Amino acid sequence: MGRLADKVAVVFGGARGIGLATVKEFLAEGATVYASDIREPAEKLDHENYSHSIVDATDENDVDTFVQDVLTRAGRIDVLFNNVGIHLGKPLAETTLDEFNTIFALNVRAAFLGTRAVLPGMIERKSGSIITTSSNGGVMGRPGDPVYNATKHALVGLTKSIAVAHAHQGIRANTVNPGAIDTDMLRGTLASPEEFEAKQHALVASTPAARIGEAWEVAKAVVFLASDESRFINGVLLPIDGAKAAGAMPNNRYSLDFDLGVK
Ligand SMILES: NC(=O)c1ccc[n+]([C@@H]2O[C@H](COP(=O)([O-])OP(=O)(O)OC[C@H]3O[C@@H](n4cnc5c(N)ncnc54)[C@H](O)[C@@H]3O)[C@@H](O)[C@H]2O)c1
Repeated sequence: MGRLADKVAVVFGGARGIGLATVKEFLAEGATVYASDIREPAEKLDHENYSHSIVDATDENDVDTFVQDVLTRAGRIDVLFNNVGIHLGKPLAETTLDEFNTIFALNVRAAFLGTRAVLPGMIERKSGSIITTSSNGGVMGRPGDPVYNATKHALVGLTKSIAVAHAHQGIRANTVNPGAIDTDMLRGTLASPEEFEAKQHALVASTPAARIGEAWEVAKAVVFLASDESRFINGVLLPIDGAKAAGAMPNNRYSLDFDLGVK
């Protein structure tokens, strides 16, 4: 028996990266998965308990129609994974209002719409687990991406408030807060493979564990929060970041020529 046997899971942002890795883990643990994304999946998954729909998670009508469709087909939703997100690595003074509006509309509105769509059914059934992908940038301030960081803090606030409001109705809401994870997003924020190489060194140097994480390492934590194993864990943020959010390291550790002593 899988840890998510008999659970119906909805995933927003499930076409690649952390979302796709989580879809695979959900399926491996016995869940029925209704994945969605604005794009087709990067990998074709052949599984009888899996479907993928094209949904713009920022569009109210798209989200509500998709969730209603899942409810019609499956009868209930046990797990919601709000994973949609885009990055913006710009200093505040250089950020345009359009960019600000776009990233908030995506990172925060998507989680709001997805959660609002599934909540009534979860309240009715007095059961449900909502997991939202925040970030290391939702735990602490960072110099390079202040507005992205603000969206990821907003998701923590949304999550804690849902937990406090609905815990007595059997609903849990938690965030996962990944550090640097090797996905298209991480690579795509940089213009060239050479830039990625340079940036990678800086990311590794600034992570106590001295490495970048893998998408499946986040997915495993999402499975735990989705499962009944975490039934008394509610309203928490869970860093998955090789200790990056845990505190500062010695100053020389952040220098690019610091010898990490690892391969
Ligand atoms: N990779 C990292 O280092 C990292 C670190 C911390 C947090 N995160 C967060 O993890 C989540 C997943 O990121 P990832 O690294 O797997 O990146 P990714 O770009 O591979 O995944 C994001 C997914 O969201 C989808 N998406 C974007 N706009 C959408 C929309 N309007 N409607 C529906 N789907 C949409 C994309 O198509 C993509 O599949 C994001 O919320 C991101 O902010 C990533």
